[in-house]
Amino acid sequence: MGVFRYLAPYKYLFVFGLLLIVVSGLLMIVITAILGQLAGAETMANMPGSSMTTWVAAYLPDDLPMQTTGKILGILAVMLIIQGFFSFVRVYIFSYVIENAMETLRRDVYRTIISMPMQFFHERRVGDLSSRLSSDITTIQETLNITLAEFIRQTVIIIVGLVALVSFSYKLTLMMLATLPVIVIIMVLFGRYIRKLGKLTQDKVAESSVIVNESLTGIVNVKSFANEAFEIIRYGAGIRTIKQVALKSAIWRGMFGTFIIIFLFGALGALMGYGAYLRSIGELPEVLVSFVLITGLVAGSIGGLAAQMGTIQRSIGIIEGVMDILAGQPEKINTSEHAAPADLKGAISIRDVHFHYPSRSDVQVLKGVSFDLQPGQQVALVGASGSGKSTLAALLLQFYTPQQGTIDFDGKPAQSFELDALRSAMAYVPQEVILFGGTIRDNIAYGKPDATDSEIEAAAQKANALAFIQSFPEGMQTLVGDRGIQLSGGQRQRIAIARAVLRNPRILLLDEATSSLDNESEKLVQEALDELMKGRTSLVIAHRLSTIRNADRIVVLENGIVTDTGTHNELLERENGLYRKLIELSRNEQ
Ligand SMILES: Nc1ncnc2c1ncn2[C@@H]1O[C@H](COP(=O)(O)OP(=O)(O)OP(=O)(O)O)[C@@H](O)[C@H]1O
Ligand SMILES: [Mg+2]
Repeated sequence: MGVFRYLAPYKYLFVFGLLLIVVSGLLMIVITAILGQLAGAETMANMPGSSMTTWVAAYLPDDLPMQTTGKILGILAVMLIIQGFFSFVRVYIFSYVIENAMETLRRDVYRTIISMPMQFFHERRVGDLSSRLSSDITTIQETLNITLAEFIRQTVIIIVGLVALVSFSYKLTLMMLATLPVIVIIMVLFGRYIRKLGKLTQDKVAESSVIVNESLTGIVNVKSFANEAFEIIRYGAGIRTIKQVALKSAIWRGMFGTFIIIFLFGALGALMGYGAYLRSIGELPEVLVSFVLITGLVAGSIGGLAAQMGTIQRSIGIIEGVMDILAGQPEKINTSEHAAPADLKGAISIRDVHFHYPSRSDVQVLKGVSFDLQPGQQVALVGASGSGKSTLAALLLQFYTPQQGTIDFDGKPAQSFELDALRSAMAYVPQEVILFGGTIRDNIAYGKPDATDSEIEAAAQKANALAFIQSFPEGMQTLVGDRGIQLSGGQRQRIAIARAVLRNPRILLLDEATSSLDNESEKLVQEALDELMKGRTSLVIAHRLSTIRNADRIVVLENGIVTDTGTHNELLERENGLYRKLIELSRNEQ
């Protein structure tokens, strides 16, 4: 079990904690025995001789001016204080060890998740991944902390308790053993089924919270399509199932309680009856109350143990899931043989690239794309929606590897570079800019986390963003809201451009937003882009005529292949070229 690796640095402390549990389990039985005898003693001087209390009392000096009961009360008090102290130390030690281990585990899981290749994220829901870190690890933590401790404590109580019981009366113990195990087995079966229902309820709750998440993150879609009613129905169906499963589970839990009351307590009653009989014929010393109390402890522990089996089993499943994630192959393969492209000139050569998304192997997106970008050159990529433009940008960023063909930087295959360093030489302005929830400053500084205020301001200036940022009362400290919703599309884009400016990359990948901006914003964004592209190799996925016109070269992508390349004027002369059609279309629009 991989998680124990995380406990290893604290193993001595952990073992000490386990030891405390064993000792406190032992003490628990002794204390219960003493309590029982105090309660059962008919006269103060008449404490039973054959029990553990005498054994304990034997360690007290004989000449103490106290009655036996007084001595025993004193011992009890000392034991309770020791027990209480152990309990505190145990709880803290366990928590200390486990919280430290879980901190490392969480960090490792997060590091692995965030380092996974892009495809990993397409195959999973964000909610699922984040619950690995939150609820799954919390479950592991509880299992190790509470369940494991209880498990050991209860095992100790059962063993020591049984020894004590046999020492009181083997006949009574035999009778107890004849009834209790049957009851416990039935309780285990009950418990297992109830847990299954509980798990089902949890799954249904998770399903319904996915609906809430999706509809709230996509609230714009919900509102604009007036689909509130639809979502309410979708959610309503989800929560109705939760209720049904939960009620079914309630019936079984109720029956479980009933069973315990009738059979468990029935068995206890029978036991006491038999005990009273044994005592009346003189076969049982005055320990009936102790016997019953310890039987209660033992029975409770057997039941608790059985219940914990389920939790432990479930946790093993969860631990395996988390370990699977940890065993995943992150995309960062940094070895010394890889060159750090610090002095990258920015030549890109795309050769016969074939690509389909791993999750959709039947749809060939790129079918042999080849073209070059010279250092410092500005190339515009145009083509119909879905022709594979953004996909090509993703390939340049090494989010995916083409199934066939190569992408070279400065004449060397992309794989020969250190992935981090190669990406650091690029800046990517995505088609849909999603900002982080912090301030404008944080969002710009994401391009270069150690940037100074004046660098950030200069970048914002170049991106034509400074004016609108300063128009906000809070300026750079303005919060942009969840994913940046408190800013307009053009503003968000200019912040993303400022981020790229700050990064000062050799290679710029720009996926222009398809949504059209008004003329004024378009002019501002265009100026920002022109400033950004100066002296860098730029691949602009262009949707705007102005961007296209300024490019050194235009590459036309159609259905996954390059059908034409040339300058604006060259392409306009092609009689039936797609480019000409695109231009004519966009002219008509204006
Ligand atoms: N993560 C993905 N998994 C599977 N298929 C994808 C994925 N992303 C895009 N595709 C598919 O790949 C094809 C190309 O998509 P791409 O985003 O590259 O188009 P595009 O040229 O950028 O279009 P647009 O101009 O609308 O932005 C489309 O058919 C799309 O459905
Ligand atoms: Mg696109």
